[in-house]
Amino acid sequence: MQDEDLLVGAATSDDAAVYRLSDELAMVQTLDFFTPIVDDPYTYGQIAAANSLSDVYAMGGLPVTAMNVVAVPMEHLSLEDVNQILKGGADKVAEAGCVLAGGHTVQNSEPLYGLSVTGLVHPDRLITNSGAAAGDLLVLTKPLGTGILSTATKRGIELGAAGLRAIELMAVLNTPGAALAKAGLVRGGTDVTGFGLLGHLGAMARASGVTARIDSGKVPVLDDCVLKLIAEGCVPGGTQANLVAADCVADGVSEERMILLADAQTSGGLLLAVSPGNLPEVLRILDEEGAPCAEVIGELIEQEARLIEVS
Ligand code: CO
Ligand code: CO
Ligand code: CO
Repeated sequence: MQDEDLLVGAATSDDAAVYRLSDELAMVQTLDFFTPIVDDPYTYGQIAAANSLSDVYAMGGLPVTAMNVVAVPMEHLSLEDVNQILKGGADKVAEAGCVLAGGHTVQNSEPLYGLSVTGLVHPDRLITNSGAAAGDLLVLTKPLGTGILSTATKRGIELGAAGLRAIELMAVLNTPGAALAKAGLVRGGTDVTGFGLLGHLGAMARASGVTARIDSGKVPVLDDCVLKLIAEGCVPGGTQANLVAADCVADGVSEERMILLADAQTSGGLLLAVSPGNLPEVLRILDEEGAPCAEVIGELIEQEARLIEVS
C-alpha cells in the first residue's frame, strides 16, 4: 500500500524513512546497531550512538528522541560493561540535544548496541540520495580508513596515534547535516558507512540519475599508514565485497587506493552533493559545525555507462 506522506521509504537505499506529518514537518525514523569495534565499552557506546544519530543528520533531520537497542551475552559481559556501553551512548545522545526515551534489551550470543532515533525535518528541506543533480560538487566530511584500521587492530597490529584518531573520528557527530538542511543549502547526500564511499556514492548516483566523477588523489585518508596496511593485505572482507560490487570504472588508479575508496566505514562522514554556488557557504557551515574535514573530492555529471568514474 502506498501512502503519499511516506516521502522516503526503502526504495532509494536512504539512511532513514521520512514521513510527512504536515506541510511544515516530517518525521525521520532510523534504526542501527552493531557488534563492538573497540575494546573499551564506553567508547563503543559512543561510536554506536554517533553512528545511529548520523542517519538522522544525513537526511537533514534534527534528532529528537532515541531508544536503546541492546543485546547482551550474560556469560561474557559484566553488568559494569553494559552500563558503560549505555553511558557512552547516553552521553552522545545528550551531546546531540536528543532525549533518551527508553529501549529494549535481549540476551544474545554476541553483544549488539545501537539506537532507534526519531528526528524532525522540514519536508522541503530533506537531504536524500535522489536529491543530487549533475553539476553538483561532492564534499566529504571525514577521512576514510576506519575499516582498514579496525581490521589491523583485530590482527594485533599496534597503530598508536592513527588508532586513537580513528576512534576519535568515529565518535564525532555528523551535526552539519541538520545545519545544512536548515539553511536550505544541500538536497543530495548520505553518510558513508558499511558500503564504503563507492557503495554509498553509487546509491546516490543511481537514485539521482547521474554519474559521479571522483579524483582519488583528493579523497582524504585517515593516516598514511592506511595505504601501507592495504598493501600488506590488511583489508576487511566487507571492503573487498564493496569493491567487487561497485559499478565503477577506474583510470590510472592504484589497487590500494581503490580499496580505500571501497573501505567499509564505521560512523563515517557525510557525503554531500553541493551546487557550486552554495559551496562557500557550505564550507563555512562545515567549519562552524566542527566537521573533521571538508574535501571536494569530485563532481556529478550527466548519466554515463557507469555510476562512478575514478581517476
Ligand atoms: Co547511513
Ligand atoms: Co545506518
Ligand atoms: Co540519506
